[in-house]
Amino acid sequence: MALVLFLFAALSVFAQEHRCAACHAETVADFQSHKHAKNNMDCGICHGASEKHRTSVGNVPPDQVAAPSEVSKLCGNCHLAEKQQYEQSPHGRAYASEKKVKTANCNTCHGHHALRSWAKQVENCQRCHTTLPASCKAQPTSVNTRVACMSCHARHTLAVSSR
Ligand code: HEC
Ligand code: HEC
Ligand code: HEC
Ligand code: HEC
Ligand code: HEC
Ligand code: HEC
Repeated sequence: MALVLFLFAALSVFAQEHRCAACHAETVADFQSHKHAKNNMDCGICHGASEKHRTSVGNVPPDQVAAPSEVSKLCGNCHLAEKQQYEQSPHGRAYASEKKVKTANCNTCHGHHALRSWAKQVENCQRCHTTLPASCKAQPTSVNTRVACMSCHARHTLAVSSR
């Protein structure tokens, strides 16, 4: 318990001293739970140093802000396989189509700054996919995934496996 409290206090102090925290305290706190923060990555990886943004109270935009259609390219700098699979999936292709549909990018599923739990991910799928074919209710042949839908749909291509 003491250790937990100590870690919590240490995280809070870190969060307060973070250079973006004066104005984005909640984001900075959320980010501490992400594997990115645990691997010593910081805001700059995705937003650049953003010095002018910081010192102008947000009047100058951050150096880098990925639009929804650019997110996979940003993440693909490090997660190349996921990017390639995603971009050929119906989710990725929807950005390139003329239809203006609300599709899912990497962060729609995973969350921007804190990783979304696997349980929350399933709820999130159903936000957009309100009616599903009967096939989706069948018994999957293998369940080796943390997100139920992915027992049948490959996690990034969405292809239905033939196993
Ligand atoms: C002194 C205050 C302040 C500091 C410090 C600050 N920001 Fe901001 N930031 C703002 C304001 C104000 C906005 C605009 C908020 C809005 O539009 O709702 C903003 C918006 C943003 C956005 C969203 C931009 C968009 O177009 O959607 C990002 C990303 C961002 N800040 C990143 C950072 C990062 C990274 C740091 C640290 C390097 C930082 N900020 C430090 C005030 C600040
Ligand atoms: C792995 C990439 C990544 C990292 C690291 C990251 N962000 Fe972001 N951030 C994004 C993306 C993508 C968006 C969505 C931009 C948009 O509006 O389309 C975003 C949006 C934001 C926004 C706009 C409000 C919101 O939450 O949508 C703020 C403010 C922000 N980031 C601040 C930060 C701060 C502060 C840090 C560090 C503690 C940080 N970000 C780290 C990718 C990242
Ligand atoms: C600069 C390289 C870099 C960038 C850019 C980057 N990541 Fe990561 N990501 C990592 C590293 C390193 C890890 C930690 C891997 C580990 O602990 O196994 C990680 C972990 C993750 C995880 C957790 C995987 C797991 O096993 O739980 C997810 C999800 C993730 N990243 C998604 C994203 C998304 C979405 C973006 C774009 C918004 C992004 N990443 C951008 C390097 C990066
Ligand atoms: C923000 C909305 C949104 C979210 C969230 C979302 N999707 Fe989608 N999904 C779409 C759109 C848009 C398409 C493309 C539909 C089209 O091509 O007509 C799509 C397509 C698909 C397809 C392919 C359908 C086909 O025609 O072959 C599958 C499977 C799928 N999504 C599964 C999921 C799963 C599983 C999740 C959660 C992990 C999820 N989606 C989350 C919007 C979303
Ligand atoms: C037991 C296996 C299985 C599971 C679990 C499953 N699906 Fe499916 N899904 C399928 C099959 C097979 C198809 C294609 C055949 C069809 O359209 O009937 C499909 C098709 C789809 C489509 C395309 C629908 C259309 O109208 O073309 C979407 C979207 C989808 N699934 C989303 C999901 C989501 C979201 C989940 C989790 C809540 C999920 N699936 C869980 C097997 C599954
Ligand atoms: C439709 C939702 C969805 C989208 C969009 C999506 N992912 Fe994932 N991702 C998942 C799920 C679900 C898992 C793992 C589920 C499991 O463990 O069974 C996963 C796993 C991961 C992992 C951990 C390694 C692995 O394969 O298990 C990384 C890293 C990752 N995703 C990065 C990305 C990146 C980068 C993008 C965009 C290019 C992206 N994801 C787009 C749902 C999504």
